[in-house]
Amino acid sequence: MEQNIARQVTRVFVEGQTSTTMANRTRPFNNRTCEAPYLIFLGPPGSGKGTQAEKLHQNFRLVQISTGNLFREHISNGTELGVKVKDILAKGELVPDDLTIGMVVDRLAKPDTIMGVVFDGFPRTLDQALALQYRLDEKRKCITAVIQFKISDEQIIERLSSRRMCPKDNTIYNLKSNAPKHDEQCDLCGTLLVMRNDDKPEVVGHRLQVYRQQTEPLIEFYREQDMLVEIDASRGIEEITTQMDEWMPMFIYDAN
Ligand code: AP5
Repeated sequence: MEQNIARQVTRVFVEGQTSTTMANRTRPFNNRTCEAPYLIFLGPPGSGKGTQAEKLHQNFRLVQISTGNLFREHISNGTELGVKVKDILAKGELVPDDLTIGMVVDRLAKPDTIMGVVFDGFPRTLDQALALQYRLDEKRKCITAVIQFKISDEQIIERLSSRRMCPKDNTIYNLKSNAPKHDEQCDLCGTLLVMRNDDKPEVVGHRLQVYRQQTEPLIEFYREQDMLVEIDASRGIEEITTQMDEWMPMFIYDAN
């Protein structure tokens, strides 16, 4: 049965010509057996990581660990961590590794993560990547794959200038490509949508720079470990979700 699924998935990849390396990916990193899928979404701001992570949560029950959302929750709850990171987020800088790693470790300790996680926006530095691998090793878990979202800067700037977000439940909208049903109100809870502080054009430029300098090197780090899978993030939301849905059986098969 498992072999059939693997063959079927392999065929999808070959016929779709998504990537030649994908077809061979029948075991996770270092041939270890993972208990559940642990996926990393890696990509620049506005590339659609949060949108697709939410779909994976809905469709496959993976827990979405979005460090950006976690920080924003701390800020709106006025916690000690929130006070420390508020200005850092507003400027588009990265939060120091020790604070970020500590927050992720706490979240990973919750029992719901046992069935699988999609890391959305984490890791973003080499130290974060090493800390994650160390932590998962300790728990006898491993990263199944790292999905790299590829998109041009022009599209990023366009998407972020029209992004709106529900401050209550973090649902993401876009006034052009993913509009709410009622004028700038959350479809789920009716709360008035907001534009993120760091989506102002001057901050977006800086976030892109920070991504290039501090996060982009992770692409090679994961490629060298044969964990990287590229996705063309310039396409429409549904098209990308369909591709992810096709890939998921392979990641889940890997994990069992
Ligand atoms: P975070 O919230 O993680 O921001 P980001 O990584 O910069 O990513 P975004 O949330 O901006 O974009 P996204 O890729 O999720 O795109 P989305 O799906 O929303 O981090 C914020 C800050 O927190 C950081 O700057 C830093 O200060 C701090 N931080 C977070 N993690 C950290 C870490 N690990 N270490 C240190 N500091 C950290 O989509 C964007 C828009 O496009 C939406 O409007 C959406 O509706 C639309 N859209 C999505 N997909 C498509 C599509 N296919 N076609 C058309 N429109 C689309």
